[in-house]
Amino acid sequence: SAVELIVLDEVDSTNAEIVRRRRESGNSRIPVCIADCQTAGRGRRGRPWQSPRGQNLYMSLGLTFRGSFAMLDGLSLVLGVAVAEALEGQGVADVGLKWPNDIFIGGSKLSGILVELQGELEEGVVQVVAGIGLNVHMTDGTGVNQSWNSLAGAFPERRWCRNELAAAVIRSVLEAVDEFVGQGFGGFRARWQSRDIFSGKSLVASQGELAGTGLGIDDSGNYLIAADEDVIRIRAGEISLRVQ
Ligand code: BTN
Repeated sequence: SAVELIVLDEVDSTNAEIVRRRRESGNSRIPVCIADCQTAGRGRRGRPWQSPRGQNLYMSLGLTFRGSFAMLDGLSLVLGVAVAEALEGQGVADVGLKWPNDIFIGGSKLSGILVELQGELEEGVVQVVAGIGLNVHMTDGTGVNQSWNSLAGAFPERRWCRNELAAAVIRSVLEAVDEFVGQGFGGFRARWQSRDIFSGKSLVASQGELAGTGLGIDDSGNYLIAADEDVIRIRAGEISLRVQ
């Protein structure tokens, strides 16, 4: 699939930029926006995403799907697998996934993904923005409210090139999305599961509403927790989980 690459020095949010550009022009190519810094980078659950200049990868892809909004939970996990596999292709070992799609390395968050729904282009055609933030050289985590790391922090002996990483991530995401569109979530379940950082751990929901042991995902990408006699099924977007 042909990509329209938009490289910016500075932007509020690459996700917001994709939304604006698609509103203005009908485009048969897949717009991909990369910025050197973001002044209002967005994270999941309304949180900000620290986006210092020149250090990390801030990238968004404008994806268009034939189908309904219901496919989005699966898509969000598929993107996590795609980013994890791209990193592994660059020689990064032991990449973990924290449900639904945070990318972890050595117990710290390395990359986050924000899937936003732009709307319905026409009946049955949905526009989605997939935003990926990947910490490459960041050393100052002021404002980050969780345990985090960067590629340079985890692998100080290596040189990291943001352009190379961007190319690898774009390729991996587009391949994964093609597979998801053609064959559904099925082929991603095991690939997600093998990287699950919650598997076998004692978990609690962030509001304390439930607790149990992590079992992995079902074939639609819901997270399963063994609690007493029951298996509880959690949908992406409903509840966030952490290790107890
Ligand atoms: C998360 O909370 O884990 C998701 C973080 C997503 C950050 C990326 S950076 C590029 C894109 N533009 C944004 O404003 N957010 C995403």
